[in-house]
Amino acid sequence: MRDPAEKPVTAVIVGGGHRSVTYADYSLAAPAALKIVGVADPNPERREMCRKRYGIPAENCFNDTTELASRGRIADAVINGTMDHLHYETSVPMLKLGYDMLLEKPFAVSKEEMDALLRVIAANGNRVMVCHVLRYAPFYRSVKEKLLSGALGDIINIQMAEHVSYHHLSTSYVRGKWANSDICKTSMLLAKSCHDVDLMMWLMQPTLPTAVSSEGGLFQFKPENAPANAGTRCTIDCPLVDSCRYSAKNLYLMHPTRWECYAWADIEHKENITDQDRIDSFNNGNPYNRCIYKCGNNVVDHQSVLIGFASGATGTFNMVGGTAKSMRKLHITGTLGELYGVLDDNKYTISRISALAESGFEDEVIDLSCENTRGHGGGDEALIADFVTYLRTGKQSVSCTAIENSIAGHLTVFLADKSREEGGRLQTVDFGQYGF
Ligand SMILES: NC(=O)c1ccc[n+]([C@@H]2O[C@H](COP(=O)([O-])OP(=O)(O)OC[C@H]3O[C@@H](n4cnc5c(N)ncnc54)[C@H](O)[C@@H]3O)[C@@H](O)[C@H]2O)c1
Repeated sequence: MRDPAEKPVTAVIVGGGHRSVTYADYSLAAPAALKIVGVADPNPERREMCRKRYGIPAENCFNDTTELASRGRIADAVINGTMDHLHYETSVPMLKLGYDMLLEKPFAVSKEEMDALLRVIAANGNRVMVCHVLRYAPFYRSVKEKLLSGALGDIINIQMAEHVSYHHLSTSYVRGKWANSDICKTSMLLAKSCHDVDLMMWLMQPTLPTAVSSEGGLFQFKPENAPANAGTRCTIDCPLVDSCRYSAKNLYLMHPTRWECYAWADIEHKENITDQDRIDSFNNGNPYNRCIYKCGNNVVDHQSVLIGFASGATGTFNMVGGTAKSMRKLHITGTLGELYGVLDDNKYTISRISALAESGFEDEVIDLSCENTRGHGGGDEALIADFVTYLRTGKQSVSCTAIENSIAGHLTVFLADKSREEGGRLQTVDFGQYGF
């Protein structure tokens, strides 16, 4: 029997895209911990990129999970970085073969799919972790540890907000892959803010939601709001190409590394991409050159969620798209004091009730700016390292996003979207079927 402490955990990539590579690169930094031994991706360029990057033998490069599954189990784990609506169908054959799995969020696109996936996992005993990377960001991990230490007493209220900048909104939710729920099968709350709702569930443990309501809509980028003389493709037929705040020329051509993995996906296989390559891409149907008001997008750009918890506490989450800056804000009020901060500042303050102090409170500032904050506030790298530890030891860290700990967030998102679709009608949350 192999000594789990000595040999690297072996993994097969399913879906060799941006997210899988982010995690799989840990094998290059820590080869004694993780070794990538296979890849399945229908895109031959992505497959080849992974083969070269991780030194994968040619016989372990597959078109899809059917081909991969036909070889039986060839590794300890799967890193599943396919798109949202493919998570279920690409995971099930792997789970049935006994693979453990690091699975991107959202791990399912409906309650029905979530329940079916959980049944497969229960039947096969797999260890599955969901990529809720923000639980590993030093900011949120530190907040969680403070809460566990009892620093705030009993929590009365939690307020969270996510501001999605205008360029992130444009790139992912107007011009990009998560713009139209009929195609991508996810709502904006599920695709973007399932992280935030998950964080709220995690920070509020052990209490759980009992009721959820939500409102939201598409406010800004729709055809009726386009300037009268706007074209359809920014650099091709629009007289406003230089003056429009959302012009693809200004957002992407003038800043070619901004969101490059999305904006220039059609030419990513080229080496040494030039400005002319990008202009040619824009002239040849690149979707990121479409007028931001005429993209066929239907997902919301702002949504508010109100949650009641079994403990009697309340929580609110506001997603606001189209802001100048990206920002995640947090304010938790407990019986002993408050905790508030902004992820992007990497620091937060605890204000404790102190009747004898001159001001009536005592402040403590927790500054995490010396920590690694690359990739989701430092979460990406810490998550994959913890996944390896989880597989080796079976022990769950304080941040561990094991799938059973990620049900509450996903279920709450599904119900919040149901409420929004029903004009804000209150939804009762029942976790009984999940055993908690
Ligand atoms: N955790 C996070 O913070 C975070 C951030 C961004 C994206 N995501 C999620 O990561 C996932 C992947 O996003 P991405 O931008 O890396 O996508 P991507 O499009 O870059 O990669 C997906 C890959 O899957 C491949 N693929 C398609 N069908 C397949 C199949 N049947 N079998 C195997 N491979 C298949 C595609 O060819 C592609 O290479 C999404 O679910 C997204 O929501 C998570």
